Amino acid sequence: MNIQIFENEKQVHEACAILFAAQLIENPESVLGFATGSTPVGAYDELARMHDEGIISFFHASSFNLDEYVGLEQDHEQSYHRFMMKNLFDHVDMPEENIHVPYGAALDPEVEVLLYENAIAEAGGIDLQLLGIGVNGHIGFNEPSSSFSAETHVVDLTPSTIEANARFFDSADEVPRQALTMGIGTIMNALKIVLVATGENKAQAIREMIDGPINPACPASILQLHDNVTVLLDLAAASLLQ
Ligand code: GLP
Repeated sequence: MNIQIFENEKQVHEACAILFAAQLIENPESVLGFATGSTPVGAYDELARMHDEGIISFFHASSFNLDEYVGLEQDHEQSYHRFMMKNLFDHVDMPEENIHVPYGAALDPEVEVLLYENAIAEAGGIDLQLLGIGVNGHIGFNEPSSSFSAETHVVDLTPSTIEANARFFDSADEVPRQALTMGIGTIMNALKIVLVATGENKAQAIREMIDGPINPACPASILQLHDNVTVLLDLAAASLLQ
């Protein structure tokens, strides 16, 4: 793993945006994997700025998001589809048909996950995947004890994730109990991975991911086996590293 520690979170966001910009400049037809959560928002702002300034274009690129809540329509205020439109896609030139987020309100989620995995394969796989990390070490919505080889699938969210994500909803009761997520196998198939984490509340998960054994108790620890992972941390997230 290539681990880069920055003084503050703004630098983490900028470094992340630079890596995605470089990918687009190197290959304008890149297949990009995007993530939700609050951590990537600063990087998306930077990418929108670089797009505004004419430095990068998403016109020939396509994207696949990691996950979505089961039961939420695309325009639901807390859907990850809406999050991505608001924070990135409304501000850049990626054609709508190139944007993929699992469809949370699919009549049959079990069919949706198969279609999603097939669409990734048909696009030729993901060139560069962005990841955040949950406080319990989850990536996408692959919670502790997830299979390391799973493809896109339906998951039950853990109480810790429901609680952590309740801040976006009126109350924890409104957080959906299930999600559709790329599996860890899907994520590990990406050619390159960038994981971003900032703040003290991620320090323990980052420590387990980097210094701990590869263990399903910390799903992100599997990234130790991927041969092209860049981890971008601020000092607080890196504070428990040995
Ligand atoms: C959600 C997402 C993850 C994300 C995590 C952390 O659970 N499914 O992909 O990494 O939140 O989010 P945040 O960056 O807000 O801490």
